[in-house]
Amino acid sequence: MIIGLLNQKGGVGKTTLSVNIAASLSRSGERVLLIDADPQGSSLDWAAARKESQLFSVVGLPRPTIHKEIKQLSSGYDHVVIDGPPRVTELARSAIMAADMILIPVQPSPYDIWAADEVVKLIEDARVFKETLLSYFVINRKITNTAIGRDSVEALAAYSIPVLSSAVVQRIIFAESAAQGKAVYEIDEEGPAAVEIELLKDEILKEFLR
Ligand SMILES: Nc1ncnc2c1ncn2[C@@H]1O[C@H](COP(=O)(O)OP(=O)(O)OP(=O)(O)O)[C@@H](O)[C@H]1O
Ligand SMILES: [Mg+2]
Repeated sequence: MIIGLLNQKGGVGKTTLSVNIAASLSRSGERVLLIDADPQGSSLDWAAARKESQLFSVVGLPRPTIHKEIKQLSSGYDHVVIDGPPRVTELARSAIMAADMILIPVQPSPYDIWAADEVVKLIEDARVFKETLLSYFVINRKITNTAIGRDSVEALAAYSIPVLSSAVVQRIIFAESAAQGKAVYEIDEEGPAAVEIELLKDEILKEFLR
């Protein structure tokens, strides 16, 4: 499966979720490639910060040719995760054309949800000739034990794109683990962040096989 994490809005958790989903998939024995499609190279930085051997392969491809190269790049891998860039529309479009599934991380605030407008439009455009494309919102940086506000629920409901039921909570371990080039499960194997990522990965696989 080829999963693209996209949102033109910056800082929503594309890289954080990309590396942790890739780690979670590789943890269950799958061969995983992470494509860093962001000129900022954050996933490459994550990999470079790591002292231990790599959990999965990471390559940088910040060019709008991902969809043309994906076939060659993905051969030999069970799953490919594409960490998308903020802003650059051409790159997002290429990632959408390459992917089977798009995940749109959003923080649970109406402003952040409205800011997903651009990527939602790109997905709708692509669907015209790519009917099988799957796409979902993923709530990231949810505040523990609080329901998502009614205004956010309404903002999400305005889109035709469904929301995955597994949300990721705001937790310091995401930043701490990233600084060491690690996945959250490597810091706290049974911790709540690792459990959330595992549930998210399971839901992604379930939706793909549905
Ligand atoms: N669930 C979370 N809990 C706590 N911090 C988080 C969480 N998700 C992301 N962050 C932090 O938020 C910041 C932005 O996250 P990240 O870099 O993953 O976003 P991004 O969408 O990839 O940003 P960009 O658009 O610049 O590529 C980082 O410092 C990251 O550690
Ligand atoms: Mg990023």
